[in-house]
Amino acid sequence: TIPVIAIDGPTASGKGTVAQKVAQHLGFHYLDSGALYRLTALSAIRRSVAMTDEHGLAKSAEHLHCHFDGGHIFLANEDVTQAIRAEEVGNTASKIAVLATVRHALYGLQLSFRKAPGLVADGRDMGTVIFPHAPLKVFLTASVEARAQRRYKQLIDKGFPANMEDLSKDLRERDARDMNRASAPLKPAEGAYLLDTSDMTADEAVKQVLGWYAA
Ligand code: CDP
Repeated sequence: TIPVIAIDGPTASGKGTVAQKVAQHLGFHYLDSGALYRLTALSAIRRSVAMTDEHGLAKSAEHLHCHFDGGHIFLANEDVTQAIRAEEVGNTASKIAVLATVRHALYGLQLSFRKAPGLVADGRDMGTVIFPHAPLKVFLTASVEARAQRRYKQLIDKGFPANMEDLSKDLRERDARDMNRASAPLKPAEGAYLLDTSDMTADEAVKQVLGWYAA
């Protein structure tokens, strides 16, 4: 069977960077499941689907015309790699991710990323719901301060406006939504290794994950 490494954790915990580097090192495919929620959010925003229209939001997820190519992300053939990183899109993604119908609509698409020789899957429910039989599950965390710093730097580097106070507030709200939702709440999967990366570089975290995988 094709191995999966599931890496879950809260917003801005550094999962994306770590997961991508682990995938690169092993020559595995990479699933950025958060991007699928962001794409669904962007698609709904573009089509003016109301945030109260659960059916319309689920349809946006179900009919997501997206593809991933060499680090670029496309929605209906438009390169939205940059657009989906905007805070507005992230906040909308966090809100629609609460809906079981949206999560359900994205299930099959996520499974399709599992291809030989292996997959590193990054998200909130990779180990708990999507790939519960993954041979390695990791739960990455970091302090709110460390995460706000990372998100700040990420946004500024991408040319987006950012301020620490708003970011910390957003981050706490997203944590609350992720952990308290009824459908696939954020929590460590059974058998997951916990890794607090507050005082770690990305490379140190990558080394730890690769060490667990090799063991
Ligand atoms: O890290 P950040 O919250 O900015 O975003 P992300 O990982 O790109 O994911 C966007 C949103 O999708 C998150 O706020 C999560 O609430 C949601 N999500 C989820 O519910 N399940 C996943 N497997 C991945 C993301």
